Amino acid sequence: MTDPADVTAPVACRVCGGDVTEFLDLGRQPLSDRFLEPDRTEGEFFYRLAVGQCAACRMVQLTEEVPRDLMFHEEYPYHSSGSSVMREHFAGLAQRLLDTELTGPDPFVVEIGCNDGIMLKAVQDAGVRHLGFEPSSGVAKVAQAKGVRVRTDFFEEATASEVRAAEGTADVIYAANTMCHIPYLDSVFKGVDALLSPDGVFVFEDPYLGDVVAKTSFDQIYDEHFFVFSAGSVQAAAERFGFELVDVDRLPVHGGEVRYWLARRGARTPSEAVARLLAEEAAQQLGELATLRAFAANVTAIRDDLKALLTRLRAEGRTVVGYGATAKSATVTNFCGIGPDLVQFVCDTTPDKQNRLTPGMHIPVRPPTAFSESYPDYALLFAWNHAEEIMAKEQEFQQAGGRWILYVPEVHVV
Ligand code: SAM
Ligand code: TMP
Ligand code: ZN
Repeated sequence: MTDPADVTAPVACRVCGGDVTEFLDLGRQPLSDRFLEPDRTEGEFFYRLAVGQCAACRMVQLTEEVPRDLMFHEEYPYHSSGSSVMREHFAGLAQRLLDTELTGPDPFVVEIGCNDGIMLKAVQDAGVRHLGFEPSSGVAKVAQAKGVRVRTDFFEEATASEVRAAEGTADVIYAANTMCHIPYLDSVFKGVDALLSPDGVFVFEDPYLGDVVAKTSFDQIYDEHFFVFSAGSVQAAAERFGFELVDVDRLPVHGGEVRYWLARRGARTPSEAVARLLAEEAAQQLGELATLRAFAANVTAIRDDLKALLTRLRAEGRTVVGYGATAKSATVTNFCGIGPDLVQFVCDTTPDKQNRLTPGMHIPVRPPTAFSESYPDYALLFAWNHAEEIMAKEQEFQQAGGRWILYVPEVHVV
């Protein structure tokens, strides 16, 4: 039998122009962060969410690009500071940059995708010169209200060059959960090349392909997550644009990430951690299409198991609600066909998501009080990456007999 993925015409890699071979089709999907007003569901935007790998540079990427203005705008609802674990994570990173990189006279740090200022607030508190790029004006205003300097704009070659001309070079350019959102990596790297000081560092952290494959966390794949990076693919991209991967940190946040440290070619000596992670990836055959096809098969199994469990619970008259109206959950609900018939509502702390409907499947979003006022029998943990934080604060739910449903790394109930 012919594998349908084999007959899909390859698209050109956004990094190197090589052939991208599709290995997973997640179907028709809406904008993952577009929460709809209940009386305005017509005309919803959909696209085909499929993911492939470049045969030349091994970069894992979407085969279709959603226009950036449809995703990042005034109403972009994601506020980074909603998680206490993430607040601590970024405060720690800011301190590390202040202690190790921002130590010269008048240091300058630029952040790509500063959101509500979760990281730059600590830099501002330390009195260090900084600038955040944030095109989503709603969250940018929240950062500005904290005293963080923000340019409400996309970081790319032109805007970065303007900053270089007006403010000089940056010692650090940093991005968290943003580089993987940017298909036009070439323009970003040219911008970094224009703006970064000769011995500066370009640091970014994003969900790690190794964790996505190991945990079958296919919900890391959605419109905003255009790339899924590995050390191998980042090293290849860095080299292409005149940079070098000089250090890596494995991070536990967001279900498993890697922080990549890039410097200009020859400016710094690569650490042993880089060689170690590259060797690990080789041993795991992370760059092999066969590995990614096996991952795709596991995704299908999770879809079938989750749908079967929810359908059975529903038939037994159990109540099930979702916890965390994450962007990731758009992939899960739309791929698995999970609507309000199976999950009554999703609770979420984000005011801009509440009293709206989830993208595509139109499940109502309610504030956390809707959860605590009348506990359901089961809670489907869409925000599984915040499991520790959420389970700690929702102990009463379990004490009342409630149970969590997780689908990473496989469907299970705790
Ligand atoms: N850094 C924060 C964090 O880790 O929680 C925010 C991450 S959020 C998932 C991604 C952010 O990147 C959004 O706020 C979005 O508006 C912003 N963004 C998207 N494209 C960008 C670009 N080209 N330049 C700067 N920011 C961008
Ligand atoms: P994220 O996985 O992309 O960070 O999104 C997490 C979502 O879950 C976000 O909409 C906020 C929500 N959330 C809660 O509702 N309660 C919580 O305790 C946490 C940590 C997040
Ligand atoms: Zn490529």
